[in-house]
Amino acid sequence: MIGSLPPDSKLPSYRELQQRYRLSPATVQRILAALARRGLVVTRPGSGTFTAARRRAAPVADVSWQTLALGSRAGLGPELERLIEPSPPDAIALASGFLDERLQPLRLLAAAASRAARRPQGWSRLPSQGLPELRSHFASETGGGLTAQHVLITSGGQNALSAVFRHLCAPGDPVIVESPTYVGALAAARAAGLVLVPVPGDRDGVLPDALADALARTGARLAYLQPRYANPHGSVLAPDRRGAVLDALARCGAFMIEDDWMRDFDLGQPSPPPLASMDDDGHVIYLRSLSKPVAAGMRVAGLAARGPVLARLRRGRMSDDLFVAPVLQQIALDVLTAAGWDRHLGGVRRVLRERRDALAVAVRDLLPGCDLDTVPAGGMHLWLRLPDGSSDADVAEAAAARRLAVGPGRACFPGEPPGSYLRLSYAAEEAPSLIRGAQILADVLNAEMRGHQMAR
Ligand SMILES: Cc1ncc(COP(=O)(O)O)c(C=O)c1O
Repeated sequence: MIGSLPPDSKLPSYRELQQRYRLSPATVQRILAALARRGLVVTRPGSGTFTAARRRAAPVADVSWQTLALGSRAGLGPELERLIEPSPPDAIALASGFLDERLQPLRLLAAAASRAARRPQGWSRLPSQGLPELRSHFASETGGGLTAQHVLITSGGQNALSAVFRHLCAPGDPVIVESPTYVGALAAARAAGLVLVPVPGDRDGVLPDALADALARTGARLAYLQPRYANPHGSVLAPDRRGAVLDALARCGAFMIEDDWMRDFDLGQPSPPPLASMDDDGHVIYLRSLSKPVAAGMRVAGLAARGPVLARLRRGRMSDDLFVAPVLQQIALDVLTAAGWDRHLGGVRRVLRERRDALAVAVRDLLPGCDLDTVPAGGMHLWLRLPDGSSDADVAEAAAARRLAVGPGRACFPGEPPGSYLRLSYAAEEAPSLIRGAQILADVLNAEMRGHQMAR
């Protein structure tokens, strides 16, 4: 009734309302009070109850001063938002950087969370380096004689990357990155004011000679590498390159971040152990995050390093946010050491293997003009080269219009991309949707091709 009346109209009396809606006087009073609280009616004592007067539109805040105050800041582009924001609910999600919720170890998480929340230590202070038992767990997983004292807990892999870039380097310093690489690492390095120095790689990982040359030429003291199923292209650093990479770092007195984001996702034969397990002299800063094997919201990761660098990072991290919520660290430890953990990982790997195979077959069958250089033996992405002349951004936009979300590859290159690529993730969709996604992509590319032909 209120919706149908003009503003400031008098409502029928209490008695009429009681009769019309067959309500008790108390109920009418309660409903009118609730409507008044929501600002829909006003009661004027002695006159009755009225629909509210039309609200004046709230004045638009003038925030134009912020344009001057903020200035410009390089590096904080939209790529990260794309990584984190879920695809629209009715779209096929091939752009996702995370496993879908159905693959979370929800039972283990719920049990661990309820235990952790009941312990007073879950809510207390902790040594800033992190929960000793969790550090010990990460250290023994990594191998190479690392112990709890070499490990620092951070709130996720992204936080660890940003902390290393900010606390080991100063704005203007060079940092070596593989090209292409993880967009989040590029964003964090740019936000820290670092100068990106791209080095090439191939399906066997970074080229050690190119790395050595870049280190010597630029004087960079830090390189960011992903030796296992690198995001986005899936390369694994070949065993015969590992020694050469460590030698190059040692010759130039440099650190490297080994971002082992896919340590749990060998989908076939086991990949080589971390470089950190071969490094005695503290060149490797090893990063192991839990957001992929556990859940995107598990913001816990371990950074392992030998030597004074760990103290530098620990102090830096304290200046950032003191320490990571103890309750979350305890949950992480409980889940990683639960009896069902290995079973969970085995199940996720089986699902990912099926999805990867389904997507790889669909891509090869339906997208003959595209090039899939490798089907990685692990991880969760395929890296697809589009036909010459196609634009990854245009293809991604046309796909989005057909409810298919794919990641344009250009954001993964620190400089100009050498071609057009898409990153197709099989982490978040089941086989039929992956196949449907490849079909949509084929339609988009065919439509593009027809467009090009007509333009000629
Ligand atoms: C290669 C790589 N490193 C690090 C991260 C960040 O991980 P986290 O979710 O733990 O912050 C991601 C996330 O997608 C990633 O792909």
